[in-house]
Amino acid sequence: MFKTRITELLGIKYPIIGGTMMDLSLAPFVAAISNAGALGIVASAIFKDPEKLRLEIRKTRELTDKPFAVNINLFPQLMPPDNRVFLDVISAEGVRIVETSGHQAPEGLVALFKEYGMTWIHKCVGVRYARKVASLGADAVTVVGYENGGATGILNITTLVLVPSVIDAVKIPVIGGGGVADGRGLYAVLSLGAEAAIVGSRFVLSEECPVHRNLKNALCDADELSTDLIMFTVGFTHRVWMNEPARKTLEIEKRGGTLQEILPYVSGEAARKMYKTGDLNAGTISVSQAIGIPKKIMPVKDIVEEMIEQAQAIHKRMATIGMAG
Ligand SMILES: Cc1cc2nc3c(=O)[nH]c(=O)nc-3n(C[C@H](O)[C@H](O)[C@H](O)COP(=O)(O)O)c2cc1C
Repeated sequence: MFKTRITELLGIKYPIIGGTMMDLSLAPFVAAISNAGALGIVASAIFKDPEKLRLEIRKTRELTDKPFAVNINLFPQLMPPDNRVFLDVISAEGVRIVETSGHQAPEGLVALFKEYGMTWIHKCVGVRYARKVASLGADAVTVVGYENGGATGILNITTLVLVPSVIDAVKIPVIGGGGVADGRGLYAVLSLGAEAAIVGSRFVLSEECPVHRNLKNALCDADELSTDLIMFTVGFTHRVWMNEPARKTLEIEKRGGTLQEILPYVSGEAARKMYKTGDLNAGTISVSQAIGIPKKIMPVKDIVEEMIEQAQAIHKRMATIGMAG
């Protein structure tokens, strides 16, 4: 049933992309997403040493014979890696799909994507950014509305408006998301014209996601009001779960505090501590407004299958009300 330019381009069974999730996008989780018929994405930015990325790619390949991608991070970092070296490793290890995401289009890397024969997907949050990467030769563009977990940019466009606007603006296939947590969201973005959905936060509540059970349980109790945008004042707006460190960050921002002051609450180190120990106030975690929709921790495979079954059931219901053949 599901065949789109994206499923064809990437060689995946279902039109679902598992969003890159920084420290969480390691081999077992990524492979579980690919094995479920979606596209898993390894986050290269986790690794300071390109050889560690090489090992993670090899580990992922041992766990799945399905396609997976590697994300190249273009967000500001305190110690940015040389993405060219990462690309050499990605290519040498035979990964053919690369996703870029961040504050600018990767103009300096496009020639390498082409030289290495990679399929290049860029993720962004606005029509003008999508147009830009389409003009640079991206094979597909992912757009996420500001419901999404993680970076939201500064445009604050909802998924319902962003996806059709981008589809009208570019000819390359569009992957849409931000707020997709079940088959209703999947069907909705496909209806808007997207050729796959990107799903991040829903997969945080999977058995395989490497965060402590305490945190997953707490997120199961979240609702649509449990997130907010932080780090706007430092040019790095993120939608996160509102726990104590997130509230503290907002307080500091409201009184004009500095990056140095908020760093202890929002650093990668603090987040890793929370993921590992399950201490709910050790750091912050990106999540979507849609985190309130799923109430259950499930294996990735069941999440994907449930999404597909729900979308198919919706399609049948559409036929009963005269909306589908
Ligand atoms: C915990 C978490 C970490 C994320 N880290 C990254 C990241 O490192 N790079 C990136 O491009 N996107 C990141 N994202 C965004 C996702 O890849 C995806 O675009 C987003 O989650 C989709 O929206 P949704 O959360 O509403 O499904 C992250 C999302 C979450 C939930």
